[in-house]
Amino acid sequence: MSDNAETQEVSESQIAVHWREEEYFPPPPAFVQQANASDPAIFERFSEDKFPDCFTEYAELLTWDKPWDTVLDTSNAPFWRWFVGGKLNASYNCVDRHAAANPDKTAIIWVPELEDDETLYISYGELLRQVNEFAALLSDYAGLKRGDRVTLHMPMVPELAVTMLACARLGVVHSQVFGGFSGNACGTRIADSGSRVLITMDGYYRAGSMQDHKVKADEAVAEAARQGQHVDQVLIWRRREGEYQSQTPIVDGRDFFVDEVIGKYAGQEVTPVSLNATDSLFLMYTSGTTGRPKGAQHSIGGYLAYVTGTAKYYQDIHPDDVYWCLADIGWITGHSYIVYGPLSLGTTTVIYEGVPNYPDGGRPWRIAEKLGVNIFHTSPTSIRMLRKVGPEEPFKYHYHFKHMTTVGEPIEPEVWRWYYNFVGKSEAAIVDTWWQTETGGFLGSTLPGLQPMKPGSCGPGVLGVYPVIYDEDGNEVPKGSGRAGNICIRNPWPGIMQTVWGQPERFIDVYYRKYNRDPNSKDWHDWPYFCGDGAVQAEDGYFRILGRVDDVINVAGHRLGTKELESAALTVPEVAEAAAVPVIDDIRGRMVEMYVSLKPGYEASPEMEGKVVTAIETEIGKIARPKNVWIVPDMPKTRSGKIMRRVIASVSNFADVGDVTTLANPEVVEGIRQHVQRTKVAKGDAPRELSETELAEIQAFGDV
Ligand code: WT7
Repeated sequence: MSDNAETQEVSESQIAVHWREEEYFPPPPAFVQQANASDPAIFERFSEDKFPDCFTEYAELLTWDKPWDTVLDTSNAPFWRWFVGGKLNASYNCVDRHAAANPDKTAIIWVPELEDDETLYISYGELLRQVNEFAALLSDYAGLKRGDRVTLHMPMVPELAVTMLACARLGVVHSQVFGGFSGNACGTRIADSGSRVLITMDGYYRAGSMQDHKVKADEAVAEAARQGQHVDQVLIWRRREGEYQSQTPIVDGRDFFVDEVIGKYAGQEVTPVSLNATDSLFLMYTSGTTGRPKGAQHSIGGYLAYVTGTAKYYQDIHPDDVYWCLADIGWITGHSYIVYGPLSLGTTTVIYEGVPNYPDGGRPWRIAEKLGVNIFHTSPTSIRMLRKVGPEEPFKYHYHFKHMTTVGEPIEPEVWRWYYNFVGKSEAAIVDTWWQTETGGFLGSTLPGLQPMKPGSCGPGVLGVYPVIYDEDGNEVPKGSGRAGNICIRNPWPGIMQTVWGQPERFIDVYYRKYNRDPNSKDWHDWPYFCGDGAVQAEDGYFRILGRVDDVINVAGHRLGTKELESAALTVPEVAEAAAVPVIDDIRGRMVEMYVSLKPGYEASPEMEGKVVTAIETEIGKIARPKNVWIVPDMPKTRSGKIMRRVIASVSNFADVGDVTTLANPEVVEGIRQHVQRTKVAKGDAPRELSETELAEIQAFGDV
């Protein structure tokens, strides 16, 4: 009992005190010498008294049809409007202006997953031709026009960038759904965004085998129809021209192969539409705490200015660099830092089709060597995985990175050090960039030429972004106090989403309600942005991000809401109740474990577990596949009937379950614990001992 009481009292604040301060790594001199930001005067230019005008420096990196009148309009707080009165086109900025200056310069290098397939080099001139032709097709053949939404469900192919840029050219709002998501997940997003056109591909390679992707389009269209949205056209790019990689029939009058239609538009040019800075460029769906996905709606002017500026200073992109970000374009990282940021700066961006460890752990380093990649960008999950499959591999290849990024999850200091010493060969500056789908671009990072790195910390707020940590009552938690709290951003910045598509109330509720000082205020100072992450700030001002404070599980850098996982499990007719919890995983950070109870008259069986797994893969996708499904006779619950996720999360992670005496049914806990933990031990699946922060996360999971 005293044991329980003790673990119960370990709060995030106490844990932070126990952290060891990591040593600093100064930026490598050769990096500093060539860095875009090497003069500390930049901090002056972005000092708080220069807000919001400081961000005109980013906007000026773009070519505008008409300059803005107002930098930041707060009159409809917190729906901030940036660069109001300005007009521009994102496609023009990412393609035309570079094609005019330097048509033969390589814009995109595409690396197919199969090593024997040919690497594709697409120049800016060629990209312009493709974007023009596809824009002509979209407008004429698909009848799309400014303001329409269109859903894309495409893999990592250059045609995805072409499609996005063609939409941007017309002012059509694209909503790319991660290719690994299921047809149903795609259908839900089609319905939410009100798209009548779906753009997809027949198939793509993943881990060495051709995936049938078109089958998901049929499921998506059916699901969208169930939710009241009719799709009248499906445009299908083909992975290999003239071949069809899918088993599914082509639906007459609905499905069209792009390569069969595009000939009609050969050589056509489409004038980029001059759009308002405050019009929308795209939607990017992300998980929240309720089942309905949130479409983060991003602007053209503010977003493009922000990703261009941050790509220049934080990714240190110069036009003659070869930049490779291993993320998927289907996530915000790929939108901002594979497509829009790098192309806006006129650099060469690499798009790789497949998984990093195919066919072996040396693949990324072979690609880097062959292409002369000098800027590399990936996630802690990939780093952990590449370290596991080939710790010495990087030294076998003669590439040199000047700069590397880690993004998406907290990185353990020892993993960071492997990245630095082995992948970076101790030559590269590293940035640990902390941000979110909603924020468009980076929030926290060191400025690579000017601020030292510290493993495990993202660094201070980026230029012009002022983070603060609040406790539950809205009091500021001072830096160096060793106490953790909710990290918020005090001010707006140009990359912030405009709203949640179709759910403006939810936008306010989720991101602003908690710390808003006056709902009628038009003053941005009254509207701190609530990030949903726990964090602690060291004496030097650097932030260490602890992870989500809501019911979101971060699997390999991808956010999965417990509600969407549970709703998926509940589509199995025999399931009565379901609860999703995280388990600590040494490669993917966290994985999902499902607990379900069955309706009366049904028995636990491997088949039943399989049904739950299939349901989750069907509703969400393979990334959400649970590590285990535990069928339990009854869920531990409070007297008011709430499932105690922290209790089962503790069981799954072999952590102390704490005091369960106040539950409505404390007696079920021990049975569940024995069953789950014995099974795991027998499978060799017992986790290592958890760190204090991990323990705190698990033992508080779902306590909101
Ligand atoms: C959540 C946002 C950022 C684009 C990709 C993920 C976590 C993100 C870091 C980092 C620690 C991080 C946070 C955040 N996160 N970057 N460098 N260190 N945690 O975007 O899917 O919207 O997820 O990812 O918890 O809130 P996302």
